[in-house]
Amino acid sequence: MTKTSLRSDENPTDVGQIGPTGRPMPHFETPAAPDPTAPKNALIIAMCNQKGGVGKTTTTINLGAALAETGRKVLLVDFDPQGSLSVGLGVNPHTLELSIYNLLLNRGADIHQVILNTVVDGLDLLPSNIDLSAAEVQLVSEVAREQTLGRVLSKARSEYDIILIDCAPSLGLLTVNALTCADWVLMPLELEFFALRGIALLTDTIEKVQERLNPDLKVLGILGTMYDSRTLHSREVLDRVVSAFGEVVFHTVIRRTIKFPETTVAGEPITTYASTSAGAEAYRSLAKEVLTRCPGA
Ligand SMILES: Nc1ncnc2c1ncn2[C@@H]1O[C@H](COP(=O)(O)OP(=O)(O)O)[C@@H](O)[C@H]1O
Ligand SMILES: [Mg+2]
Repeated sequence: MTKTSLRSDENPTDVGQIGPTGRPMPHFETPAAPDPTAPKNALIIAMCNQKGGVGKTTTTINLGAALAETGRKVLLVDFDPQGSLSVGLGVNPHTLELSIYNLLLNRGADIHQVILNTVVDGLDLLPSNIDLSAAEVQLVSEVAREQTLGRVLSKARSEYDIILIDCAPSLGLLTVNALTCADWVLMPLELEFFALRGIALLTDTIEKVQERLNPDLKVLGILGTMYDSRTLHSREVLDRVVSAFGEVVFHTVIRRTIKFPETTVAGEPITTYASTSAGAEAYRSLAKEVLTRCPGA
Protein backbone atom coordinates (compact mmCIF):
# COMPACT_ATOMS: atom_id res chain seq x y z
CA MET A 1 0.00 0.00 0.00
CA THR A 2 1.38 3.44 -0.87
CA LYS A 3 1.28 6.33 1.52
CA THR A 4 -1.03 9.09 0.41
CA SER A 5 0.83 12.40 0.39
CA LEU A 6 -0.12 14.90 3.03
CA ARG A 7 -1.67 18.22 2.17
CA SER A 8 0.46 20.93 3.72
CA ASP A 9 -2.45 23.00 5.06
CA GLU A 10 -3.80 20.26 7.24
CA ASN A 11 -2.83 18.52 10.43
CA PRO A 12 -0.39 15.79 9.39
CA THR A 13 -1.64 13.43 12.05
CA ASP A 14 -5.10 13.01 10.71
CA VAL A 15 -5.31 13.53 6.99
CA GLY A 16 -4.51 11.10 4.25
CA GLN A 17 -2.11 9.00 6.28
CA ILE A 18 -2.52 5.28 6.24
CA GLY A 19 -4.24 4.46 9.51
CA PRO A 20 -3.69 1.29 11.53
CA THR A 21 -6.40 -0.47 9.52
CA GLY A 22 -4.30 -0.09 6.36
CA ARG A 23 -6.70 2.41 4.80
CA PRO A 24 -6.11 6.15 4.41
CA MET A 25 -7.51 7.82 7.49
CA PRO A 26 -10.28 10.23 6.42
CA HIS A 27 -10.59 13.58 8.08
CA PHE A 28 -13.67 13.39 10.29
CA GLU A 29 -15.40 16.58 11.30
CA THR A 30 -17.45 16.75 14.48
CA PRO A 31 -21.02 17.43 13.39
CA ALA A 32 -22.41 20.34 15.41
CA ALA A 33 -24.39 19.32 18.49
CA PRO A 34 -28.16 19.57 18.13
CA ASP A 35 -29.84 22.71 19.46
CA PRO A 36 -30.21 21.98 23.21
CA THR A 37 -33.72 23.45 23.26
CA ALA A 38 -34.97 21.31 20.33
CA PRO A 39 -36.98 18.16 21.14
CA LYS A 40 -34.77 15.11 21.51
CA ASN A 41 -35.21 11.46 20.58
CA ALA A 42 -32.03 9.67 21.59
CA LEU A 43 -30.29 7.29 19.23
CA ILE A 44 -29.58 4.05 21.05
CA ILE A 45 -26.30 2.23 20.49
CA ALA A 46 -25.65 -1.20 22.06
CA MET A 47 -22.04 -2.27 22.75
CA CYS A 48 -22.13 -5.94 22.12
CA ASN A 49 -19.79 -8.93 22.10
CA GLN A 50 -20.52 -12.11 24.04
CA LYS A 51 -16.84 -12.43 24.89
CA GLY A 52 -15.75 -10.76 28.13
CA GLY A 53 -12.72 -8.51 28.39
CA VAL A 54 -12.86 -7.13 24.84
CA GLY A 55 -13.44 -3.49 25.78
CA LYS A 56 -17.23 -3.08 25.83
CA THR A 57 -17.32 -1.27 29.15
CA THR A 58 -14.20 0.78 28.45
CA THR A 59 -15.69 1.83 25.11
CA THR A 60 -19.06 2.70 26.65
CA ILE A 61 -17.46 5.00 29.24
CA ASN A 62 -14.93 6.68 27.00
CA LEU A 63 -16.98 6.97 23.83
CA GLY A 64 -19.78 8.34 26.03
CA ALA A 65 -17.46 10.90 27.60
CA ALA A 66 -16.04 11.89 24.20
CA LEU A 67 -19.57 12.34 22.81
CA ALA A 68 -20.51 14.44 25.84
CA GLU A 69 -17.47 16.65 25.13
CA THR A 70 -19.02 17.48 21.75
CA GLY A 71 -22.00 19.00 23.55
CA ARG A 72 -24.35 16.04 23.30
CA LYS A 73 -26.40 14.77 26.22
CA VAL A 74 -25.47 11.16 26.78
CA LEU A 75 -26.94 8.42 28.96
CA LEU A 76 -24.87 5.32 29.69
CA VAL A 77 -26.82 2.20 30.58
CA ASP A 78 -25.08 -0.45 32.67
CA PHE A 79 -26.70 -3.65 31.44
CA ASP A 80 -24.23 -6.10 32.92
CA PRO A 81 -24.94 -7.59 36.38
CA GLN A 82 -21.23 -7.20 37.14
CA GLY A 83 -21.78 -3.45 37.30
CA SER A 84 -18.36 -2.65 35.77
CA LEU A 85 -19.68 0.44 34.00
CA SER A 86 -20.97 1.78 37.30
CA VAL A 87 -17.64 1.01 39.01
CA GLY A 88 -15.74 2.67 36.16
CA LEU A 89 -17.70 5.84 36.83
CA GLY A 90 -16.98 5.81 40.54
CA VAL A 91 -20.25 4.23 41.71
CA ASN A 92 -20.21 1.38 44.21
CA PRO A 93 -22.84 -1.05 42.88
CA HIS A 94 -23.30 -2.73 46.28
CA THR A 95 -24.63 0.39 47.90
CA LEU A 96 -27.22 1.29 45.26
CA GLU A 97 -30.75 1.53 46.60
CA LEU A 98 -32.24 1.58 43.13
CA SER A 99 -30.76 0.19 39.95
CA ILE A 100 -31.91 -0.70 36.47
CA TYR A 101 -33.26 -3.92 37.97
CA ASN A 102 -36.07 -1.99 39.71
CA LEU A 103 -37.05 -0.36 36.43
CA LEU A 104 -37.19 -3.65 34.55
CA LEU A 105 -39.28 -5.49 37.11
CA ASN A 106 -41.37 -2.76 38.67
CA ARG A 107 -43.50 -0.88 36.21
CA GLY A 108 -44.16 1.93 38.69
CA ALA A 109 -40.51 2.82 39.27
CA ASP A 110 -39.34 6.18 37.92
CA ILE A 111 -36.22 6.17 35.75
CA HIS A 112 -35.37 9.68 36.94
CA GLN A 113 -34.90 8.38 40.47
CA VAL A 114 -32.36 5.85 39.24
CA ILE A 115 -30.29 7.94 36.81
CA LEU A 116 -27.11 9.36 38.36
CA ASN A 117 -24.97 12.27 37.22
CA THR A 118 -21.28 11.57 36.60
CA VAL A 119 -18.16 13.71 36.92
CA VAL A 120 -18.52 14.59 33.24
CA ASP A 121 -20.91 17.34 32.18
CA GLY A 122 -23.74 15.99 30.04
CA LEU A 123 -22.93 12.34 30.87
CA ASP A 124 -25.43 10.41 33.02
CA LEU A 125 -25.52 6.81 34.20
CA LEU A 126 -28.25 4.25 34.69
CA PRO A 127 -26.43 1.94 37.12
CA SER A 128 -26.76 -1.78 37.69
CA ASN A 129 -25.57 -4.39 40.12
CA ILE A 130 -25.83 -8.11 40.76
CA ASP A 131 -29.64 -7.84 41.13
CA LEU A 132 -29.78 -7.63 37.35
CA SER A 133 -28.80 -11.30 37.07
CA ALA A 134 -32.15 -12.17 38.69
CA ALA A 135 -33.96 -10.07 36.10
CA GLU A 136 -32.68 -12.32 33.34
CA VAL A 137 -34.55 -15.22 34.97
CA GLN A 138 -37.62 -13.25 36.08
CA LEU A 139 -38.20 -11.67 32.68
CA VAL A 140 -38.52 -15.04 30.97
CA SER A 141 -42.16 -15.37 32.03
CA GLU A 142 -43.14 -11.79 31.11
CA VAL A 143 -45.23 -10.83 28.10
CA ALA A 144 -43.11 -9.02 25.48
CA ARG A 145 -40.06 -9.83 27.59
CA GLU A 146 -37.65 -8.72 24.83
CA GLN A 147 -39.14 -5.21 24.84
CA THR A 148 -38.68 -4.53 28.54
CA LEU A 149 -35.53 -2.39 28.31
CA GLY A 150 -37.03 -0.44 25.42
CA ARG A 151 -40.04 0.42 27.56
CA VAL A 152 -37.78 1.55 30.41
CA LEU A 153 -35.63 3.75 28.16
CA SER A 154 -38.59 5.27 26.33
CA LYS A 155 -39.20 7.39 29.45
CA ALA A 156 -35.81 9.09 29.05
CA ARG A 157 -35.32 9.10 25.30
CA SER A 158 -36.62 12.64 24.93
CA GLU A 159 -33.94 13.94 27.33
CA TYR A 160 -30.81 12.61 25.62
CA ASP A 161 -29.15 12.78 22.22
CA ILE A 162 -27.45 9.41 22.55
CA ILE A 163 -27.92 6.39 24.80
CA LEU A 164 -25.12 3.80 24.99
CA ILE A 165 -25.90 0.37 26.41
CA ASP A 166 -23.04 -1.63 27.92
CA CYS A 167 -24.09 -5.27 27.36
CA ALA A 168 -23.14 -8.27 29.46
CA PRO A 169 -20.77 -10.86 27.98
CA SER A 170 -23.56 -13.18 26.84
CA LEU A 171 -26.20 -13.42 24.14
CA GLY A 172 -28.98 -14.09 26.63
CA LEU A 173 -32.26 -12.28 27.19
CA LEU A 174 -30.63 -9.12 28.55
CA THR A 175 -28.51 -8.66 25.44
CA VAL A 176 -31.51 -9.46 23.22
CA ASN A 177 -33.39 -6.71 25.08
CA ALA A 178 -30.57 -4.28 24.29
CA LEU A 179 -30.56 -5.26 20.60
CA THR A 180 -34.34 -5.01 20.43
CA CYS A 181 -34.42 -1.37 21.49
CA ALA A 182 -31.18 -0.27 19.80
CA ASP A 183 -30.87 1.61 16.52
CA TRP A 184 -27.26 0.53 16.17
CA VAL A 185 -24.91 -2.11 17.45
CA LEU A 186 -21.19 -1.47 17.93
CA MET A 187 -18.95 -4.52 18.28
CA PRO A 188 -15.66 -4.09 20.13
CA LEU A 189 -13.21 -6.77 19.03
CA GLU A 190 -10.02 -7.59 20.90
CA LEU A 191 -7.25 -7.88 18.34
CA GLU A 192 -5.97 -11.30 19.33
CA PHE A 193 -5.79 -14.63 17.61
CA PHE A 194 -9.28 -15.98 18.25
CA ALA A 195 -10.96 -12.60 17.85
CA LEU A 196 -12.94 -13.53 14.77
CA ARG A 197 -14.35 -16.74 16.20
CA GLY A 198 -17.21 -15.24 18.15
CA ILE A 199 -18.29 -12.78 15.47
CA ALA A 200 -20.31 -15.34 13.49
CA LEU A 201 -22.40 -16.17 16.54
CA LEU A 202 -22.94 -12.50 17.32
CA THR A 203 -23.89 -11.74 13.71
CA ASP A 204 -26.33 -14.63 13.81
CA THR A 205 -28.01 -13.21 16.92
CA ILE A 206 -28.18 -9.75 15.34
CA GLU A 207 -29.85 -11.22 12.24
CA LYS A 208 -32.41 -13.10 14.33
CA VAL A 209 -33.25 -9.92 16.23
CA GLN A 210 -33.54 -8.03 12.93
CA GLU A 211 -35.92 -10.67 11.56
CA ARG A 212 -38.10 -11.16 14.60
CA LEU A 213 -37.92 -8.17 16.88
CA ASN A 214 -36.19 -5.10 15.48
CA PRO A 215 -36.01 -4.70 11.70
CA ASP A 216 -34.44 -1.26 12.17
CA LEU A 217 -31.32 -2.55 13.95
CA LYS A 218 -28.16 -1.72 12.02
CA VAL A 219 -24.48 -2.52 12.53
CA LEU A 220 -22.64 0.69 13.35
CA GLY A 221 -19.19 -0.83 13.14
CA ILE A 222 -16.50 -3.13 14.46
CA LEU A 223 -13.96 -1.50 16.76
CA GLY A 224 -10.50 -3.04 17.08
CA THR A 225 -9.33 -2.84 20.69
CA MET A 226 -6.18 -3.76 22.66
CA TYR A 227 -4.09 -3.09 19.55
CA ASP A 228 -0.34 -3.41 19.98
CA SER A 229 1.39 -1.98 16.93
CA ARG A 230 4.76 -3.34 18.11
CA THR A 231 3.67 -6.91 17.56
CA LEU A 232 3.32 -8.43 14.12
CA HIS A 233 0.55 -10.58 15.54
CA SER A 234 -1.68 -7.64 16.42
CA ARG A 235 -1.21 -6.14 12.95
CA GLU A 236 -1.94 -9.47 11.28
CA VAL A 237 -5.17 -9.91 13.19
CA LEU A 238 -6.24 -6.36 12.32
CA ASP A 239 -5.47 -7.03 8.64
CA ARG A 240 -7.62 -10.15 8.76
CA VAL A 241 -10.47 -8.28 10.42
CA VAL A 242 -10.32 -5.57 7.75
CA SER A 243 -10.20 -8.08 4.89
CA ALA A 244 -13.18 -9.93 6.39
CA PHE A 245 -15.35 -6.91 7.22
CA GLY A 246 -14.02 -4.04 5.09
CA GLU A 247 -15.59 -0.66 5.67
CA VAL A 248 -17.57 -1.92 8.67
CA VAL A 249 -14.32 -1.70 10.64
CA PHE A 250 -13.80 1.72 12.22
CA HIS A 251 -10.68 3.58 11.10
CA THR A 252 -10.06 4.33 14.74
CA VAL A 253 -8.29 1.54 16.59
CA ILE A 254 -7.85 1.50 20.36
CA ARG A 255 -4.32 0.68 21.45
CA ARG A 256 -3.46 -1.40 24.47
CA THR A 257 -2.34 0.84 27.32
CA ILE A 258 -2.22 0.54 31.08
CA LYS A 259 -4.03 3.89 31.26
CA PHE A 260 -7.39 2.18 30.75
CA PRO A 261 -7.18 -0.11 33.80
CA GLU A 262 -5.93 2.95 35.73
CA THR A 263 -9.04 4.92 34.82
CA THR A 264 -11.23 2.19 36.29
CA VAL A 265 -9.44 2.59 39.60
CA ALA A 266 -9.83 6.36 39.33
CA GLY A 267 -13.54 5.96 38.53
CA GLU A 268 -13.53 8.38 35.62
CA PRO A 269 -13.18 8.39 31.82
CA ILE A 270 -9.76 8.69 30.20
CA THR A 271 -10.90 11.98 28.65
CA THR A 272 -10.76 13.57 32.10
CA TYR A 273 -8.20 11.28 33.80
CA ALA A 274 -5.57 11.73 31.07
CA SER A 275 -7.17 14.25 28.78
CA THR A 276 -4.29 14.61 26.32
CA SER A 277 -3.28 10.93 26.22
CA ALA A 278 -3.37 8.88 23.03
CA GLY A 279 -6.19 6.80 24.53
CA ALA A 280 -8.35 9.88 25.10
CA GLU A 281 -7.63 11.09 21.57
CA ALA A 282 -8.54 7.66 20.17
CA TYR A 283 -11.97 7.78 21.78
CA ARG A 284 -12.47 11.36 20.55
CA SER A 285 -11.64 10.12 17.07
CA LEU A 286 -14.11 7.24 17.49
CA ALA A 287 -16.78 9.71 18.60
CA LYS A 288 -16.32 11.66 15.36
CA GLU A 289 -16.57 8.47 13.31
CA VAL A 290 -19.68 7.40 15.18
CA LEU A 291 -21.33 10.78 14.63
CA THR A 292 -20.42 10.63 10.95
CA ARG A 293 -22.02 7.18 10.66
CA CYS A 294 -25.16 8.14 12.60
CA PRO A 295 -26.85 10.96 10.76
CA GLY A 296 -28.86 13.14 13.08
CA ALA A 297 -26.99 12.27 16.27
N1 LIG B 1 -7.22 -0.52 25.15
C1 LIG B 1 -6.99 -1.13 26.31
N2 LIG B 1 -5.71 -1.32 26.74
C2 LIG B 1 -5.47 -1.94 27.91
N3 LIG B 1 -6.41 -2.42 28.74
C3 LIG B 1 -7.68 -2.26 28.37
C4 LIG B 1 -8.05 -1.61 27.15
N4 LIG B 1 -9.41 -1.61 27.06
C5 LIG B 1 -9.86 -2.23 28.16
N5 LIG B 1 -8.83 -2.62 28.96
C6 LIG B 1 -8.90 -3.33 30.23
O1 LIG B 1 -9.27 -4.67 29.96
C7 LIG B 1 -10.21 -5.14 30.89
C8 LIG B 1 -11.50 -5.54 30.17
O2 LIG B 1 -12.04 -4.39 29.52
P1 LIG B 1 -13.61 -4.10 29.58
O3 LIG B 1 -13.85 -2.82 28.90
O4 LIG B 1 -14.11 -4.25 30.97
O5 LIG B 1 -14.16 -5.30 28.68
P2 LIG B 1 -15.62 -5.95 28.61
O6 LIG B 1 -16.61 -4.92 29.07
O7 LIG B 1 -15.79 -6.32 27.17
O8 LIG B 1 -15.60 -7.16 29.50
C9 LIG B 1 -10.41 -4.02 31.88
O9 LIG B 1 -9.55 -4.24 32.98
C10 LIG B 1 -9.99 -2.78 31.12
O10 LIG B 1 -9.47 -1.79 31.98
MG1 LIG C 1 -18.03 -5.11 30.58
